[in-house]
Amino acid sequence: MKRVHNFSAGPATLPTEVLETAKEEILDYKGLGASVMEISHRSPEYTQIDAEAKESLKRLLGLNDDFHIMFLQGGASGQFMQIPFNFLSEGQTADYISTGRWSVKAIKEAKLFGNVHVPFSSEDDNFTHVPGNKLDYTEDAAYVHFTSNNTVVGTQFPSEPETNGIPLVCDASSDILSRPVDVDKYGMIYAGAQKNLGPAGVTIVIIRKDFLAGANKKNIPTLLDYNTHTQKIFNTPPSYPVYMVNLVLKWIEGKGGLPFFQELNTKKANLIYSTIDEDDFYRGTAQVDSRSKMNITFRLPSEELEQTFLEDAKKHDLVALKGHRSVGGIRASIYNACELESVETLVSFMNDFRSKKG
Ligand SMILES: Cc1ncc(COP(=O)(O)O)c(C=O)c1O
Repeated sequence: MKRVHNFSAGPATLPTEVLETAKEEILDYKGLGASVMEISHRSPEYTQIDAEAKESLKRLLGLNDDFHIMFLQGGASGQFMQIPFNFLSEGQTADYISTGRWSVKAIKEAKLFGNVHVPFSSEDDNFTHVPGNKLDYTEDAAYVHFTSNNTVVGTQFPSEPETNGIPLVCDASSDILSRPVDVDKYGMIYAGAQKNLGPAGVTIVIIRKDFLAGANKKNIPTLLDYNTHTQKIFNTPPSYPVYMVNLVLKWIEGKGGLPFFQELNTKKANLIYSTIDEDDFYRGTAQVDSRSKMNITFRLPSEELEQTFLEDAKKHDLVALKGHRSVGGIRASIYNACELESVETLVSFMNDFRSKKG
């Protein structure tokens, strides 16, 4: 068996220890003689998995009882629609900070429900930077939506935007649990699990209770109303992905929680950025003060060299380094589960490649 150095943007690499546990438990979960995939979502065993995962998330993010946690389906893209369905009525305005492809998609959905004001967009600059902290928000905006990490171009907000009390709604799909956040600033945080938290199939949704209490409650189909999911499991959840998320959350806690991963992720990112910055052979795509610690994007002197880079990297078991199809180039996604050793192997490959081809 071999495990490659996997830099996939998502679904992304998972901790080997977590996969080992899943392997051990796959046929017989805790003596049940059945897999988690084969038991009722109302069983005591699954109820415990659901509860444990929620408790871990609370501990990791420092959430108190002011928040609801839900494990939904439909991906982050489903949330692009569900958020305005619940929180934006006709005549109301929501502010959307536009820092990339995913923000643009979220804006498109929100416009189906109400007015959208965009206080900042880096589209003219190919989304290579995030804004500074002073933006012009709509005074009575229902919420301010932002994408904490732009997976495609590789930019990341260094901290939460200041919104003068307007609730923040954050698409944290590509950096959730990679560093501590100030939860008091958020009305809502959501993320598809498939980058930092587990396999694809479950969407983590965290909503502040008082923000939900002020939601638009009219004419929302039952499944799409967040209130449907606050007290109990409404319908069959993505039970196996939730089980995997629970294992990943325990792994994160076991390692030392968000401060540990903030330090490790900074170290990994700095290793690659300092290699890029050594000379002009590699060129970082994102502006320096907006650089992401999760998705590191760069170009080589020609597309031909980029192709050779990808082919040679693969021969060294360094895989999934191709940039997003909309921007090209190289992208190394180094979420929590991407090991330091993989990053060191990549950096050493980058240095060798430069000395041969530069
Ligand atoms: C920041 C961000 N938001 C949203 C999405 C879309 O997520 P999903 O495929 O779960 O709908 C992605 C996917 O890569 C993403 O990176």
